This record gives sequence, structure tokens and C-alpha cells, in this order.
Amino acid sequence: MAGYTHSAFRRLLAGFGGCGAMWTEMLATRQILNESFTESPWLRRRPAEGFTVFQLMTGPDDPLERVLERLGEQGAEAVDLNLACDALAARARSSGSALFDNFDALRTVIGRARRCWPRMLTVKMRLGSRRPDWELGFVERLRFLEDAGVDAVTLHPRFFEDKFKRLARLELIPWAASLTRLPLIANGDLTGSAHIASRADDLRSASAVMIGRLAVAQPWLFAHWDAPADVDLAVVWRKMFHFITEDFAPPVALRRVQMFTKYFSANFAFGHQFRVVVGNAPTLEEVLRRADEFLAHSPATLAKPRVSGL
Ligand SMILES: Cc1cc2nc3c(=O)[nH]c(=O)nc-3n(C[C@H](O)[C@H](O)[C@H](O)COP(=O)(O)O)c2cc1C
Repeated sequence: MAGYTHSAFRRLLAGFGGCGAMWTEMLATRQILNESFTESPWLRRRPAEGFTVFQLMTGPDDPLERVLERLGEQGAEAVDLNLACDALAARARSSGSALFDNFDALRTVIGRARRCWPRMLTVKMRLGSRRPDWELGFVERLRFLEDAGVDAVTLHPRFFEDKFKRLARLELIPWAASLTRLPLIANGDLTGSAHIASRADDLRSASAVMIGRLAVAQPWLFAHWDAPADVDLAVVWRKMFHFITEDFAPPVALRRVQMFTKYFSANFAFGHQFRVVVGNAPTLEEVLRRADEFLAHSPATLAKPRVSGL
């Protein structure tokens, strides 16, 4: 998740025991080619993080071969191409949803990637654009991805136009899985083991699930998959503050702490207060002071935080 699954967050999640695989933020060509794999908070990995998938925001004009060569030299095990992001910045680079839309460009990019990347290659996609014939385009692309030798597909079953509105159409997962032999990773609004069990008919055909926003709010989610967690929220928040300020320069660190707090505050009954006071703080010192003040009063917590509107 752009702005969230940086090295500090991956370190936090790893501290709870990690999960099957973590995806980096969507990475631009210039980051991979110019930044240090031992220092950049977008690229660096600590051994405890385990399996990390480097997600690329890439289009037909990017020097994909050089990008993949550098990732290979740096020991990356897996690369994911984003065909899902509908943000202007991604579309302007003919990547994300624009790459999904432009089938010729998609063929070129996937073909080039597969030719020079022998390790795991996955893609992240949505259903496409909401049009009467959307299914045709979706089926065509899924079959192409299988023929082109992609290893797995993560499906977030919403249309591009939906952004994050309505619920993800998890009921479409069995249909999508029936179209391909590729492992399908189901994503969208999942909240944990009980929820997944309750949607077993929709999710049985998926090979794995991916959880985004709730994992930012509750990085212990995977460690406590089958049992309620007894977590000291103040300790977790302070740890994350420390990890972010260790990996990021101060102005970016401030923003990253505020962004993390947006989701983390969903754990509290009056989390909006926490979010607002931290979000308005002008410096890291002030963030810490305000957070200490909020957390010192043992704020009431919520058993089931909601991140859907965030
Ligand atoms: C702030 C934000 C940033 C995101 N950045 C990315 C990204 O960089 N790459 C990506 O594949 N998906 C990204 N997503 C989408 C999530 O990965 C995921 O598909 C979506 O949030 C639905 O899953 P969830 O309900 O478990 O969060 C982002 C979502 C949000 C809210």
C-alpha cells in the first residue's frame, strides 16, 4: 500500500511474526534504479521480514529490463506489476489501470517482464472499467496472463470507478478462479479468519487472501489469526513511531507517522480524536507529546475496528 507498507511497517509486522508474504509500496522506476537497497525505506529489507514482493508501477516506456536486473542483483525473490491503481500519477505513466486498459501495452510489458525475470512474477488487478462488456476484457486479460507465464494474480474485485466504494465483490472470486489455472489471491474488505470462514463459498477457490488496510490498523492480525489478541496499543504505536523515525528523514517521517495513525486510530472508540490531534501536529516532537497525552488515559478500544471509510 502506497505510503504504508514501507520498511518501518514491514519491520513492525515482522516483529509480530510476519505473514506469508508482504508487498512493498508501489515502486517507481527511479526509486529502483537510483536508491540504495540498504538505506531507502522503500527498498531496504530486514532479514526478519521474510518473503517480500516488490510491486512496480511500470508502463511500456519504462526501462523494465534495467529495473528487473537491479532487483535480481539485489536478491528480490518476487515482483508484482500493478494493473489496479487508478490514481492519476499511475495513469500518467501508462501504468496501473491504464496498463490494464491498454491491452497492447499490457502484452508488451508482461512479455518483457517474463523474458528477463525468471523468479516469481505476479500481477494485481481489479475487474476493469464498469462497462456493459467488462467481463470480456477481464476474461481476455486473465487468459493472456496465464498464457504469458505469470505465476499468480491478486484480484481486488471492484471496478476502477468504484475506488473504495461499496463492498468488494467477493462473490465473483469463484467465477474468476474458474477461468484460469493461475493461483488467485483474493483481496478486498477482508477482516480475518471468522470473516473468511463466513465467506467460505466465495473464497474456497482462492489460493490465498491479501489484507491491506486492516493489517495497517492491526499489524498483529496474522500472528493472532485464530485467537483474540491482547495487545498493548500504546506500546505498538510508540514502536512504530520509533521505527518510522529511524528509517525516514524528519519531514517524511512526520507524514508517515500521521498516515499510520489514521488507520491505527481505528482501534480506539474515540480514534478520530487521536487521528486529528496527531494529524495536525506540526513536528514529530509535538506528535509524540500529543500521542502520549492520548494514550496515557487508557483510551477505550474497539473489538472490531472499521477501516472501510479510511
Ligand atoms: C492508501 C492506500 C494505498 C494503496 N496502495 C496500493 C499500492 O501501492 N498497490 C496496490 O496494489 N494496492 C494498493 N492499495 C489497494 C490495497 O492493496 C487493497 O487492494 C485495497 O485496499 C483493498 O483491500 P483491503 O480492503 O484489505 O484494504 C492501496 C489502498 C489504499 C487505501
